[in-house]
Amino acid sequence: MNLMITGGAGFIGANLVLHWLRHHPDDLVVNFDALTYAGNLGNLEDVKELPNYRFFHGDLRNALEISKAFSEHNIEAVIHLAAESHVDRSIHVPADFIETNVTGTFNLLETAREFWGDELSKHRILHVSTDEVYGSLGSSGKFLESTPYAPNSPYSSSKAASDHLVRAWHHTYGMNVVTTNCSNNYGPYQFPEKLLPLLINNCTQNLPIPVYGDGENIRDWLFVEDHCEALDCVFHEGDTGETYNIGGCNEWSNIDIVRYLCRELDKELNRSGADSCENLITFVKDRPGHDRRYAIDAGKIKNTLNWTPRHTFEEGLTKTIRWYIDHQDWVSNITTGTYRDYYKHQYG
Ligand code: NAD
Ligand code: DAU
Repeated sequence: MNLMITGGAGFIGANLVLHWLRHHPDDLVVNFDALTYAGNLGNLEDVKELPNYRFFHGDLRNALEISKAFSEHNIEAVIHLAAESHVDRSIHVPADFIETNVTGTFNLLETAREFWGDELSKHRILHVSTDEVYGSLGSSGKFLESTPYAPNSPYSSSKAASDHLVRAWHHTYGMNVVTTNCSNNYGPYQFPEKLLPLLINNCTQNLPIPVYGDGENIRDWLFVEDHCEALDCVFHEGDTGETYNIGGCNEWSNIDIVRYLCRELDKELNRSGADSCENLITFVKDRPGHDRRYAIDAGKIKNTLNWTPRHTFEEGLTKTIRWYIDHQDWVSNITTGTYRDYYKHQYG
C-alpha cells in the first residue's frame, strides 16, 4: 500500500512514520509536510534513506501540491495529521488555523475524491482529531463519541470544522473515512511550546515554569507511542464512517503533573533543596477561554478493537524525560530566533 501521512515531520506524525516503517515494512510511506515551525525533518533522520520512505514537501493550503503528491506516488490511503496544533498560537493567529485545519482538510478530501474517483470507497482516510472538540467538562463525566461538539478555542473549532467535513464527505460521497479524537499526548519529538517539553526544557535551563491560572485545569495524558498503536489499529480495523475516542484514562491537574515532573527531573538532574525544579514554578495569567477539564471514555476502542495503552504513565514519562535530556541538541536546534520571539510574545 502507498500510504500518505500528512504532518509526518511533526510530533505525533514523526512518531507514526517511525512506527509504520517498523511495523509495516511492505508499505510505502509518503510524508507530506509543509515544514512549518513545528515540522522537523531531523525527527526522521534515521529513516530518510529507507527505500519505502519518501518525503514530499507540500502545503495542504495548495490543492495542486496535494494533487501532485497523489499522482507522483499513486497514493492509496491517507492518515491525516497535518494541522496547526497549539491552542495558544490559535488565540494569537486564528487565520492560520482556519487555512490549514479547515481549508487544508477540504483540499485533501477533494483531491482524494477526484483521484480515487469510482474507487473512493476502497481507499481509506483516517482523520486524526482531538478531544478538545467536545469542549470542557465539569468535575465528573467523560467524553463519549456521542458527546455533542462544543469547541471553545480557535484551534478546537477549526478541528471540529474539519471533523464535520470528513463526516459529510463520507455521508454524501461514500468516502471511506474514520476519525479519531485523542487526549493530550506526550513523548519524544514534541515541540517545546507544549506544557511537558516546555517544562523539561525550562528546568534544564533554570528558567521559570509558567503555570496558567490556578493550575487546577485537568488533562488526560497518553504516551505518543500508545496513540500511534491506536491509530494503526483504527486504520486497519475501524468501521467506515465511525469515530473512536482515544485516551489514557490518566487525568492530572496541571499543577500536580508539573510538581510530579519536577520531582522526577530533580532525580535525573541531581538537584534538591533551594536548587529543586519546583522552585521554578511560577503562576502566570490564565489562557483566555481555558477549558477546565478533559477526560476520554475510551470504552469503544477498547471493547470493539481491543486497544488499550501499553505504557503506564511512569514508564512513558521516564522515557520522555530521558529522551529530552539525551537530545539537548534537538531542543537547542529548534529553540532559536523564532521560538524565542514566540516565547517572549506569549510569556513576556
Ligand atoms: P505538530 O504541531 O507537532 O505537527 C504538525 C505538523 O503538520 C508539522 O510537521 C507541520 O509542519 C505540519 N503542517 C502544518 N501545517 C501544514 C500545512 N498547511 N500543510 C502541510 N503540513 C502542515 O502537531 P501534533 O501535536 O503532532 O498533532 C498532530 C495531529 O494530531 C493534529 O491534527 C492535532 O490536532 C492532533 N492531535 C494532537 C494531540 C496532541 O496532544 N499533540 C492530541 C490529539 C490530537
Ligand atoms: O487534548 C488534546 C490537545 O492537547 C491537542 O489537540 C492539542 O494539539 C495539544 O496542544 C494539547 O492541547 P492543550 O492546550 O491541552 O496542551 P498544552 O500543552 O498547550 O497545555 C496543557 C495544559 O497546560 C493546558 O491546561 C494549558 C496548561 N499550560 C500550558 C502551557 C504551554 C500551562 O499552564 N502553561 C503553559 O506554559
